[in-house]
Amino acid sequence: MKSETALSREPQERAREFEFNDSDFQALRALVKEMTGINLAESKRELVYGRVSRRLRALNLSTFGAYRQLLKTGDGSELVAFCNALTTNLTSFFRESHHFDYLRDEVLVPLREAGSRRERIRIWSSACSSGEEPYSIAMTVAESIPDWQKWDIKILATDLDSDILARAQRGRYAADRVRGMDAGRIGKFFKEIKDGGETSYQITPEFEKLITFKQINLMHDLPMSGPLNMIFCRNVIIYFDKDTQRELFARIAKLQRASDLLFLGHSETLFKVSDDYSLIGKTIYRRN
Ligand SMILES: C[S@@+](CC[C@H](N)C(=O)[O-])C[C@H]1O[C@@H](n2cnc3c(N)ncnc32)[C@H](O)[C@@H]1O
Repeated sequence: MKSETALSREPQERAREFEFNDSDFQALRALVKEMTGINLAESKRELVYGRVSRRLRALNLSTFGAYRQLLKTGDGSELVAFCNALTTNLTSFFRESHHFDYLRDEVLVPLREAGSRRERIRIWSSACSSGEEPYSIAMTVAESIPDWQKWDIKILATDLDSDILARAQRGRYAADRVRGMDAGRIGKFFKEIKDGGETSYQITPEFEKLITFKQINLMHDLPMSGPLNMIFCRNVIIYFDKDTQRELFARIAKLQRASDLLFLGHSETLFKVSDDYSLIGKTIYRRN
């Protein structure tokens, strides 16, 4: 059996398919920061090597130098593939379920009970990954407000990664992605599809009217006018440094009015980032 020291040294010592030196790592790291705001730690060297190596193979390139040259002089399409390769898309249906409970119990059910059908309700899932987050919001809307189709409710689902956004829009999930979800929910909101030996689940087409998908980079100007009553900005700012977070929430705050809500991921906080919001629950903020 290998000792712990031998195991921890292994990634550096493993023979590499491509030479990857410090200047390659620093150049790619600076580029991903400039393009996406993602601040990759020194410890992410192996991750960068692994993910970008796949691009080299796909493009039939033999060195990181040639790849960097392509990023510099190409038509920009590889820049998109490069950013897509380095973003982490981990997500799941009803992840951090207390946010969806809050949305149902404190926002949507009270609106239904007050008969506020004429109210304009806008929800933004700002780093939606493969769609589990906006579809969880949509299911919560449909469960809380049965006649939601007659209401003025819209969900905007956006992500920087164009590939993952296309998957989100398609709305088809392998069986293991829906496993663990309430069976009643699966029956109500998904169609089971059998293809050979594989079973997958297609989200109901009804949500096409409710959700709009769009590519938006949180590092750029935000192209919507607001006001946005609820913003889900979860498990994305963890990759940004504090200055980048401050700039982002200064722009986000302009899209919200007093008492609008902001949901962050479980390890994210606005402490020393924004004074425009007050913490009102577990990673739930209200616009001041
Ligand atoms: C870990 S997933 C979070 C998904 C979902 N919000 C959740 O909490 O389950 C992070 C997502 O942020 C996206 N992302 C990273 N940098 C971004 C940026 N600058 N602008 C928009 N999206 C970004 C990634 O493409 C990825 O899909």
